[in-house]
Amino acid sequence: MARSTRITRLESFSAAHRLFKAELSDEENFRLFGPCSNPGGHGHNYRLAVTVRGSIEPDSGMVLNLKTLHDLIQTSILDKVDHRNLNLEVDFLTGVQPTTENLARAFFDELEPRLPTGRLWRVLVQETDKNSAEYGED
Ligand code: NI
Repeated sequence: MARSTRITRLESFSAAHRLFKAELSDEENFRLFGPCSNPGGHGHNYRLAVTVRGSIEPDSGMVLNLKTLHDLIQTSILDKVDHRNLNLEVDFLTGVQPTTENLARAFFDELEPRLPTGRLWRVLVQETDKNSAEYGED
């Protein structure tokens, strides 16, 4: 088995969303999406974990400078989603149902082209203490 070192940067942001399908009634949306379908919207304090893999560079002793990774997450994701409405205000989420699963995949797709090829390994999004989703390499 190939081996690599993985490093993770933890971030957090707050955002509003509503999970719903326009063609369904409020009652049907509640059956499908639960409280996240509340017609007035609601917020979550999200946590975001971004994991990059690679080998340890002998000179620095690091896989990637975590400050560099933080700056990348800040400019490509956090500046766009923090204190925003995920249904309405985020360019790369247009037309995307803002479930935790879809957020993890969308964030991965935003970060991947901005990192050296093959380095991004996983993005984990935690919506509540109990619910999270992750997207990345198998
Ligand atoms: Ni929700």
